Order: sequence, then structure tokens, then C-alpha cells
Amino acid sequence: MTIPDITIAVDGFSSTGKSTFAKMVAKEFGFLYLDSGAMYRGVTLFAMENGMAEGGKIDEPALKEALPGLDLHFQREDDKTLLYSGSRCIESLIRTMEVSSLVSPVSAIAFVRAWVDDRLHAFSKGGRVIMDGRDIGTTVFPNAEVKIFMTAAPEVRAQRRYDELVAKGQPSSLEEVLKNLQERDYIDSHRETSPLRQAEDAFVLDNTHMTLHEELVWMLGLLQGKFGLLETPGITW
Ligand code: DC
Repeated sequence: MTIPDITIAVDGFSSTGKSTFAKMVAKEFGFLYLDSGAMYRGVTLFAMENGMAEGGKIDEPALKEALPGLDLHFQREDDKTLLYSGSRCIESLIRTMEVSSLVSPVSAIAFVRAWVDDRLHAFSKGGRVIMDGRDIGTTVFPNAEVKIFMTAAPEVRAQRRYDELVAKGQPSSLEEVLKNLQERDYIDSHRETSPLRQAEDAFVLDNTHMTLHEELVWMLGLLQGKFGLLETPGITW
């Protein structure tokens, strides 16, 4: 199956499986996967580790001054794309509940968004990219050829995130996880700068009752329909 060099934007609510979906599509169809949420998490960790988030309050002037010195970048290792801060891999440090509970306010700051957007554009030069986040199809890549908006029932999303945390040895309570994701949905959708919203030309993927395989088949159908590709040599599923 020959897919042209396009950008695929995947947006949606927290814990709808955007990164799992985007990684799977990247692998199957040969795209570079970029996780924009990881960048916001990296900035949040940076603020926390440097005393700019004491008591949950972000010291915006200090962060603004320090941000240009932060070197966040992705490195591919085997099948994975990992976030680095300088030479330190911070992939697991950015996935804790502490970071999750602070990342929405940090990502609501306009100068943080501008800094992240600049980097995302630099990382994706050359096309054939699939990127997930909250504002990829609306702000970062408004001209993306394919836009997907993901959603799922909050209880199902909370259960998935909870299982993920437990599997990583970071147990928390299901109620806390549900509360955190509902709070993030609210802040992400109501912030002033680049709020989470569905692009008018986005295809909605509600995966409440879908398996990963069904999501992949859905994507194949979308690409075939959009680009008129009826033959799929090499794809065996
Ligand atoms: O996808 P995630 O849960 O790792 O994202 C972490 C946070 O980053 C999320 O609560 C909102 C923010 N975010 C954003 O504002 N814009 C993006 N493009 C991606 C993430």
C-alpha cells in the first residue's frame, strides 16, 4: 500500500489511547511518531525539578527565563520513541501521577505552547509524520491531510490508565485516576490558548468498545477511502 507523504494529526481527550493508536499506525504504515503530550510533560518535570512548581503553583517568570535552556528531544530506540532531556532519558519520569496532575496547568501557559510548537515543527520537517496531542489538527498542523479525533467513555479511559499505572508498579486508586482525567479534560478544553476541540474536518474515532485491531482496520479503511488505495500488498491483517 503506497501512502503519500502526509501528516496525520491525532487529537482527543486524555487516556483515549491516542499514543497507542498513533504508534501502531506509525509502525504499520511507516510514519515517524511524535508524542506532543510528552513535550508538555517534559516541561512540567523540568519545572518540578527546578523548584518552579512549589506547592503546585507554577512560577511562570522563572520558567519563561529558563525554558530556552531546556533541551528536550526524542530518540528512537528499537521500536520506541523516547523523550530525552539533554543526555538523560526521562520517558518514565514524565508518566507519573505527580507530573499528570501538574501538566494541564503548565500546558495552558501561552509561552510554553509556543516553545513546544516550535520544536514539534522542527522535529517533523520532511513529512510522513503522525503526531498526537490536543491541538495538532487545529493549531500545530491545521493543514494535516488526515485528522482524527479520539474519544471514549470516561470510565473506560480511567480503567485503561489505571491498569497502565499498576503494570508499571505505580499503583493509585481508580477514583483518583478518573478524577485526574476529568480535571485534565476540563482544563484542556477550557483554556484560553489553543483549547482541545475537534477540528471541523476530523474523523471521530470512539474506541469505547473497540479492540486495537479494529482501530487499525478503521484506519486502513479511512486511508483507502481518502487516497483511493484499493490494493494493500504486504499487509496481512
Ligand atoms: O497526551 P498526554 O496525556 O500525555 O498529555 C499531557 C498533557 O499535555 C495533557 O493534559 C494536555 C497537554 N497537551 C496539550 O495541551 N496539547 C497537546 N498537543 C498535547 C498535550
